Amino acid sequence: MTGKEMRPIWLDEDLKTVKVIDQRRLPHELIIADLNNLDDIIMAIKEMYVRGAPLIGAAAAYGVYLICLDTQNLDKSDEYLNYECTRLKNARPTAVNLVWAVDRMLSKILQVKKESRIITARTEAENIVEFEAENCRKIGEYGLSLISEISEKKEGKTVNLLTHCNAGWLACIEWGTATAPMYAAHRAGIDIHVWVDETRPLNQGARLTAWELGKAGIKHTVITDNAGGHLMQHHMVDMVITGTDRTTYTGDVANKIGTYLKALAAKDNNIPFYVALPSTTFDWTLRDGIKQIPIEVRDPDEISYIQGKVDGKIKSVLITPEDSPAGNYAFDVTPARLITGFITERGICRASEDDIKNLFPEKSL
Ligand code: MRU
Repeated sequence: MTGKEMRPIWLDEDLKTVKVIDQRRLPHELIIADLNNLDDIIMAIKEMYVRGAPLIGAAAAYGVYLICLDTQNLDKSDEYLNYECTRLKNARPTAVNLVWAVDRMLSKILQVKKESRIITARTEAENIVEFEAENCRKIGEYGLSLISEISEKKEGKTVNLLTHCNAGWLACIEWGTATAPMYAAHRAGIDIHVWVDETRPLNQGARLTAWELGKAGIKHTVITDNAGGHLMQHHMVDMVITGTDRTTYTGDVANKIGTYLKALAAKDNNIPFYVALPSTTFDWTLRDGIKQIPIEVRDPDEISYIQGKVDGKIKSVLITPEDSPAGNYAFDVTPARLITGFITERGICRASEDDIKNLFPEKSL
C-alpha cells in the first residue's frame, strides 16, 4: 500500500461532506460514513467511528470547517464559533490533539474577515491533515534506525516487536505512529514480526492493528493483553513500540489502558520501550501525567459485551453476569522513567524534560 491509500478521513469532492472509515465495523465490514455537520463529527468522535489521537485532531479540524460552512449566514458571531468549538473540544477528554487542532483552527479563522473564513478553515484543516501525514512518515524513518540496529545485532534473524492498541494509519493519517517504523522496516526488507495485544475492551489491536498489518503483508500474531510479560521473560520480544494520546513535556505518557503494565514488564526484562508520537500529541502545559492527564471513563457496556461476527453478521454478546458492574477506564499513564525513548518527527530523544526541550526548543516550556 502507498501512503495515500492509508487515509481514514477525507473531504468529499462536494467540499461539504467529511468521509471517514467507520472503525467500529472493522475488520468485518469496510463502511465509509458521511459526516455532514458538527454534530455528526462530535458523534463520530464520541462513538469512535474515528479514534486515535492524530485522527481525532484531523476530524476536529474538519469539524471546525463544517461549523464555518454552516455559518454561510455571516451574522454568526465569534462567540458562536467559540461556543461550538468548546462543544467539539469536549467530545473526548484524553487525546490532546483534539484541543490542539481546534485551537489552531480557531486562531486562524478568527484572524480573517468573516467572508474568508470558509476557505481559511478548509485550507487549515487540509494543512493539519498533511502535517500529520508527513509527521508519521518521518517517525517511520527515525524508528527504522532502531529496528535496523536490532536486526544487525540479531544477524538478520526476525525482530520481534510488540504493540498495544492501534497506533496505525487508521488512528493517524498515513503510516501511523507506532506502526510507521514497522512499515518502514518491512519495506527495507528487514524481517519483522509483530505481537499485537488484542486491547480489550474494544479490541483495537485484534480488530484494527491486525487488519492493517495483514493488508501490508507484515507477519503478526494477536495475543491476549496479559501475554506480553510472559513473552518478554522468554526473550520473544526485542522492542515495544506504542502510540500515545497525550504526553507531558516531562515525558509521562497517556495511552490505551494496559500500556503501563507493558512498560513495567519491559523494564523488568530490560527490553526497550519506545513511544512514537508527533509533536501535536505533546501537552506543553502539563508536568505530571498521573495527576494531570484526564483519563476517559467510558460506558461499562463496552466491557460487559463483546462484539464479533456471527453467521455473517456483527453481533454483541454479553460476557459478564447481567448484574455485575464493570469499570471502563480507557487510558493509563506510563511514567517517563519506564520509557526508553520517544520517536518523533524531529528525531529520537529520551523521555526527559531536557531532551524533549532540545528537540522542540520553540515550545516555551
Ligand atoms: O480509545 P482510542 O482507540 O482512541 O485509543 C487510541 C490509542 O490509545 C492510541 O494508542 C493512541 O491514540 C495513539 S494513536 C497514534
